[in-house]
Amino acid sequence: MIYIKTKTEIDFIRESCRLVAETLQLVKGHIREGITTRELDQIAEDYILSNNAVSASKGYAPGWAPPYPAAICISVDDEVVHGIPGDRVLKNGEIVSLDITVKKNRYFGDAALTVAVGEISEDKKKLMAVTERSLYLGIAEVKEDNRIHDISAAVQEYVESNGFSVVRDLTGHGVGKFLHEDPSIPNFGVRGTGKKLKSGMTIAIEPMVNMGKYDVVTARDGWTIKTKDASPAAHYEHTVLVNKNQCEILTVC
Ligand code: MF3
Ligand code: CO
Ligand code: CO
Repeated sequence: MIYIKTKTEIDFIRESCRLVAETLQLVKGHIREGITTRELDQIAEDYILSNNAVSASKGYAPGWAPPYPAAICISVDDEVVHGIPGDRVLKNGEIVSLDITVKKNRYFGDAALTVAVGEISEDKKKLMAVTERSLYLGIAEVKEDNRIHDISAAVQEYVESNGFSVVRDLTGHGVGKFLHEDPSIPNFGVRGTGKKLKSGMTIAIEPMVNMGKYDVVTARDGWTIKTKDASPAAHYEHTVLVNKNQCEILTVC
């Protein structure tokens, strides 16, 4: 079911999305060598709770995994997404993907970005830059009557022309009344195909890009998705509102 949101719903979703963006910036500012991912999770959760919201990730149980145990997802180096915060200590040279969801006033927002710890390799810098740019190229396709796979193709073409690969097993999604709604938004596809975008849809676009091959595996914790070839991965995500013309990025502050 694809929901077209009303003006009132969009205002609530915008508020949730702003909190997501603020929390991302707050946690990003604490990333440094020596901090544990659990400390970062705690900083995020404290901020979310103090804004009359809750993490939409904590306790999330899609059926194929145990309830997600933390407030945010923190995925380091070869971890693509859904890394679980814990005792892991961040080290110089690593890249860290933060993925944050909140539920506020019953409405959801979802966004992610990748941050460097200290000095990182040129390869990793390029991986981050290409992944972020691919998100904005996907977003540039978002307007009424364009099709879902116009977004997908824009992401895929740019990523692959830079020698990296897009993860096939996970996708973006509708978001707002629920964390995950239809439609699914893959990061690969053929222009001119897929459902048409309509004003009032709110969607999360989230390229997950591997430096090596696109294959991924699930770790034994049931959640963490890692690259099969152990190459590093980056992840950027925004929730956006479809309009007649240029879309609005909602996860900004
Ligand atoms: N934020 C993720 C997404 O972009 C969903 C995380 S669900 C969790 O769709 F349970 F892993 F947190
Ligand atoms: Co997310
Ligand atoms: Co998402």
